[in-house]
Amino acid sequence: MYYGDDLIEEIRIKNDIVDVISGYVKLQRKGSSYFGLCPFHNEKSPSFSVTPSKQMYHCFGCGAGGNVYTFVMQYENYDFVEAVKFLAERAGIVLPEESKDAENQKTSSLRKTLLEINKKAAYFYFYKLKQQDGQIGYQYLTKRALSPETIKHFGLGYAGKYRDELYRYLKKEGYSDEVLKESGLITFDEKRGIYDKFFNRVMFPIMDVNSRVIGFGGRVMGDGEPKYLNSPETKVFEKSRNLYGLNLARSSRAAYMIICEGYMDVIAMHQAGFQNAVASLGTAFTSGHASLLKRYTEEVLLCYDSDKAGINAALRAIPICKSAGLAVKIINMQPYKDPDEFIRNLGHDAFQERIEQAKNAFFFEIEVLEQDYDLKDPEGKTRFVNEVAKKLLNFEEEIERNNYLEAVADRYHIGFENLRMLVNKFGLQLDTAAKSFETQQKREKRREEKNPALEHQMLLLTWLIDRPGLYAQIKDYVTPKDFPEGVYHIVAKCLFAQLEEGVLEPAKILNVFQEREEQEKAAALFNAKVPALESKAAEEKACKDVVVKVKRGTMDYEMSRLEPADIVGMQRLMADKKNMIQELEKLHISFD
Ligand code: CTP
Ligand code: MN
Repeated sequence: MYYGDDLIEEIRIKNDIVDVISGYVKLQRKGSSYFGLCPFHNEKSPSFSVTPSKQMYHCFGCGAGGNVYTFVMQYENYDFVEAVKFLAERAGIVLPEESKDAENQKTSSLRKTLLEINKKAAYFYFYKLKQQDGQIGYQYLTKRALSPETIKHFGLGYAGKYRDELYRYLKKEGYSDEVLKESGLITFDEKRGIYDKFFNRVMFPIMDVNSRVIGFGGRVMGDGEPKYLNSPETKVFEKSRNLYGLNLARSSRAAYMIICEGYMDVIAMHQAGFQNAVASLGTAFTSGHASLLKRYTEEVLLCYDSDKAGINAALRAIPICKSAGLAVKIINMQPYKDPDEFIRNLGHDAFQERIEQAKNAFFFEIEVLEQDYDLKDPEGKTRFVNEVAKKLLNFEEEIERNNYLEAVADRYHIGFENLRMLVNKFGLQLDTAAKSFETQQKREKRREEKNPALEHQMLLLTWLIDRPGLYAQIKDYVTPKDFPEGVYHIVAKCLFAQLEEGVLEPAKILNVFQEREEQEKAAALFNAKVPALESKAAEEKACKDVVVKVKRGTMDYEMSRLEPADIVGMQRLMADKKNMIQELEKLHISFD
């Protein structure tokens, strides 16, 4: 650990969990907790809760949970040290100078340096655009109808004709070749030497959601290959987890986001007042992109190029968006190639109209499908209808499915009942396949998870957390030694100490864990509720049973650690066990 416990705790206390999470998730107060849509899985109704009194969050849907550190680690993909730094900065707490040697420290400081280099490069390119030799770049952008404000807003720039301008600049700033290589901005080639990745191009800095520059796209001015060149993936640039323009679009407060293909499309749309446009970064749209978007919106409009490639890209993106829980519509840019050209020719109002006319994704899909079949030929039509029936199965809710069934039956002149029977037939086939797959998965999971001793320990901890009054009654019988290993051992130690002092601070206990898995396992204890039984007496008995089981578990554990030949030890343990069982007879738990 690099920072003292007290410091870590101070940082935690100064970052109220409701404040922090509100920055990412829209929360609504309900009683003593806040609720919102879980950012860690896709859902339509809120099961993500944040409890100020515990300073913890918990999702009833996916089980994610923890304290403010866990949240930041999970959401921002930070490791523990990065989360500490992030929250310290947020609370205005100055951290002591870091020791430079540890391995962990190295990767996070590399990331920091790479961000620094990207930022400096962005300023460098931006500055160049205003220089004499950058005129050509500036003119290119102006010719493409970008205003000076837009150029500044997106931080566009120019990489000069010489092949090592950026390299020389960054060397002067003191960066080593080793780290420059990692930045992806400089190419090190055995034969051709060291040169800038980008030269004689207009530059589009790519930012993450927090507006930190993580990479670049560079376009040739005019014709030339490749038209766009992009930063390679680096420690700070992950293409499938970032979207161009999202740093701006996330605060546009529009009800939906527009996804398009190109940098220029995003910029043109923003300039025309559609600040909710984003683009994937010269790669296909991925489920990573979809769940990123799901944090900010419920609906996306795909605004891809009108050519064959654009249509195919839309067809691929639709199911990805849907399975992330996003509603999808398609905007048609005909007769223009892309949103940039459309807006340049027809302007804001016409584009707004196209948004309003955006087509339902399902109808878009079947209209594209339709083109592969000859509907005038009975055979062709049959095959087409079969395909559509299979697609209709994707609507899980009956009302929704029926609405689509009706629309399709109507449009293609098929009897509604016939179509429904066909859909049900495919449904049955699919059901059986899915069921056998599911049970197989469940069986495997159960095999992994079952460890009765751990389960009893977990239950007892949950009980103590849920009903702290229990502690006084059992403390003569149970100690942290009864939780001999792992996460539960550490939780027990901290929990018993807190209960002894009469203050229960679950979030503080979580500070101790730096690995996300451990945090989650510990957090689960604090978020679980002891099941309510039919009577108080039954609950008291159930609780005592758990205590007895945990104590027996401890004996078994100690037994298992004896040397096989240790007869004396074994006899001693047997005697202990007998005593213990007698002692436990006296334990009476009361929930009054
Ligand atoms: N792209 C890329 N590499 C290429 C071509 C395209 O990375 N060689 C990516 C870029 O992110 C680009 C997007 O794909 O913005 C869309 O490409 P395309 O439709 O060819 O270009 P436009 O966006 O229309 O670019 P422009 O208007 O500048 O011609
Ligand atoms: Mn274009």
